Amino acid sequence: MAKSNLISFQFISEPGDVNFGGKVHGGVVMKWIDQTAYTCARSWAETYCVTVYVGGIRFYKPINIGEVIKIDAYVIYTGTTSIHIAVDVYSRSFSEEGFEKKTHCVIVFVSVDEAGKPVPVKKWIPESEREKKLEEYAVKLNDLRSQINNEMLPFFNE
Ligand SMILES: CC(C)(COP(=O)(O)OP(=O)(O)OC[C@H]1O[C@@H](n2cnc3c(N)ncnc32)[C@H](O)[C@@H]1OP(=O)(O)O)[C@@H](O)C(=O)NCCC(=O)NCCS
Repeated sequence: MAKSNLISFQFISEPGDVNFGGKVHGGVVMKWIDQTAYTCARSWAETYCVTVYVGGIRFYKPINIGEVIKIDAYVIYTGTTSIHIAVDVYSRSFSEEGFEKKTHCVIVFVSVDEAGKPVPVKKWIPESEREKKLEEYAVKLNDLRSQINNEMLPFFNE
């Protein structure tokens, strides 16, 4: 995967990240996801971007305080003005060598001008087999999203 479309960083979860159950708060994980994904989208677009869709964040397993957190955010599709970013959140305790994936989601950003109007974004072209599969995955999610939007719209408009 080319470096320009991937953002990865590591840090340690802190006591201030805790929820009432003693694990990392879901809202804190969502903030990490948003920050990393935004950095990836902004770096790719080279313009100001806004979030248009955050979908299906799946918390597979809890994350403990004091673990090493690794977050990968990478471009998996670009439309005319949209940039689709997949985010994987991993953690490991200091006694373990390998990371375990805890959370995955896809966030869509739109490249905008100073007036907030969508502007075309540079095309991301998948090269490896894995990147081609990721692009197919993004397109499939986009189709499903249209159906979800139709279901949700009446409740937005009520
Ligand atoms: C994002 C925004 C500029 C899009 O404006 P719009 O008039 O809907 O623009 P368009 O209909 O031309 O859509 C722009 C892109 O968004 C995509 N989009 C729109 N709704 C979407 C959805 N529900 N899911 C995924 N992508 C979506 C479109 O497919 C299009 O992508 P493309 O150009 O690659 O095909 C506008 O909705 C907005 O300002 N939203 C608020 C953003 C915000 O405040 N975010 C939170 C804080 S950053």
